[in-house]
Amino acid sequence: SKGGFDHFMIKEINEQPKGIKETLIRRLDENGKIKLDDIKLTKEDLEKINKVYIVACGTAYHAGLVGKYAIEKFAKIPVETDIASEFRYRDPFVDENTLLIVVSQSGETADTLAALKEARSKGARILAITNVVGSSIAREADDVFYTWAGPEVAVASTKAYTTQLVSLYMIALDFAIKKGTITEEVYRQTIKELEFASDKVQEIINNADKIEKIADSIKDAQNAFYLGRGLDYYIAMEGALKIKEISYMHAEAFAAGELKHGTIALIEENTPVIAIASQDYLFEKMISNMKEVKARGAFVIALAKEGNKEVEKVADKVIYIPEVSDILSSILTVVPLQILSYYVAVKRGCDVDKPRNLAKSVTVE
Ligand code: F6R
Repeated sequence: SKGGFDHFMIKEINEQPKGIKETLIRRLDENGKIKLDDIKLTKEDLEKINKVYIVACGTAYHAGLVGKYAIEKFAKIPVETDIASEFRYRDPFVDENTLLIVVSQSGETADTLAALKEARSKGARILAITNVVGSSIAREADDVFYTWAGPEVAVASTKAYTTQLVSLYMIALDFAIKKGTITEEVYRQTIKELEFASDKVQEIINNADKIEKIADSIKDAQNAFYLGRGLDYYIAMEGALKIKEISYMHAEAFAAGELKHGTIALIEENTPVIAIASQDYLFEKMISNMKEVKARGAFVIALAKEGNKEVEKVADKVIYIPEVSDILSSILTVVPLQILSYYVAVKRGCDVDKPRNLAKSVTVE
């Protein structure tokens, strides 16, 4: 049941604070340390691993991109994130020292399952992140990390994605503390911050009416562009996918630094540009990119941390997210983009929960 909401998608967006909290606290011990009972990777196993692949499709692939960033930053292991349908056919270099992390909400995606089998036949160790207990991918993996999102009904993935992010951050932190690549202090501080993420997501959801108004101003557009740098680029990709699949508005994500290499030619009078600027160390760069598109007529919607009021001078609309460290920002920045896609789709009269041509679980390639 939709529990009083108009659609499953908005219900599931609203369930994110709970999903994020559950995924985390079910795996914290009495000392507040991460305890990954279902993952049997020891310190010795981790020392052997010299390469990680994260493989998935669609939204789960976008979560994998954030996972790459977190594992490289915390655990200092090189990570490559790949699309399952590419990975399985490109003869990737995989051996016994490779860890393959597959990410799949349903645990039934055909390409992801095939990629898992392909890597396993070459000796890789397999860690699955999935939302469905007993799913095919869960059964085939050596280790399983369950996202506690609860059943996801809407075709567009929301709460599965944010819980996948939390899972990947936890895995990165666990690997890092076992390998000794982060200090106890950074470890504890980051877990504390993860604990606060749920309340901050709730704050964003509480302000959904502001985002609904912004949806009004772009609902008739034919094209939209999502720009970001660093982690924000990956969130831009997820934001663009979300609006495409449910509202049928054409949208593309670009690394903001790539604008000058072609993309900027697409900007016309009133083209919506959603600029994500949550990374402090890249903030000024994003401000310059906003000015560049603004000068070519774009309608700029900026996403920034509270306090970074400077964006108001450049952007037409601003959506603020609560203060958060650069590395964990992804859990927050994606939420306004989900809400924006939802309202644009509703206002365009689309079938939000069951968009045309799409299935919830893609069990054929
Ligand atoms: C987008 C979406 C899809 C899935 C993809 C993988 O909102 O839901 O892109 O993320 O089909 O599905 P799972 O995670 O079940 O393997």
